Amino acid sequence: MTFKRTCLAAFVLGALLLPTAQADITLHNAITGEALDLSFAKKGGNTEAFKQFMQDGKNPYNGNQDAVAKGKSLYMTGCSGCHGHEAEGKLGPGLADDYWTYPRNATDHGLFELLFGGANGMMGPQYVNFNTDEMLQIMAFIRDIYNGDPKKAKWLNK
Ligand code: HEC
Repeated sequence: MTFKRTCLAAFVLGALLLPTAQADITLHNAITGEALDLSFAKKGGNTEAFKQFMQDGKNPYNGNQDAVAKGKSLYMTGCSGCHGHEAEGKLGPGLADDYWTYPRNATDHGLFELLFGGANGMMGPQYVNFNTDEMLQIMAFIRDIYNGDPKKAKWLNK
């Protein structure tokens, strides 16, 4: 074995054995499809809940009334001006019904991607205002006030 090869083998073995938290989902910008750069994320958001979300793309805060209440208060400061106090739609579309401009928002994975990276026009990337844990709380609030067809609530399955 050459020195280079030995190094490579050691590296691969190390990568396999290191007990680092492995992210199992990948995140992409909802519009461009480019990989989202989580290094832009505000500090304090890499919580247990966020790590869990990165494993399977499901929001562990769904149905958690404490997180829903915090998410509501964050939503009122950061989103209601454009989406309405009951997410009924204003400058931006309604978020409580089952129509999505971007159908991936019916999954938590897709909704997180759109929040973090933004969409078109006035829907800017939310990493500027909220850390990733706060985004999950806001998402839990949006799911909590959902008034659409339960059959279209894809986040309940995946
Ligand atoms: C300055 C106004 C503004 C703010 C603040 C804002 N949005 Fe938006 N949002 C918009 C507009 C306009 C669109 C439509 C963009 C598009 O179609 O690409 C949009 C689109 C969206 C969509 C996609 C909806 C769909 O039908 O697929 C989601 C989800 C969303 N916003 C959530 C949020 C959340 C949550 C917040 C707060 C963290 C927020 N927005 C803050 C204006 C805003």
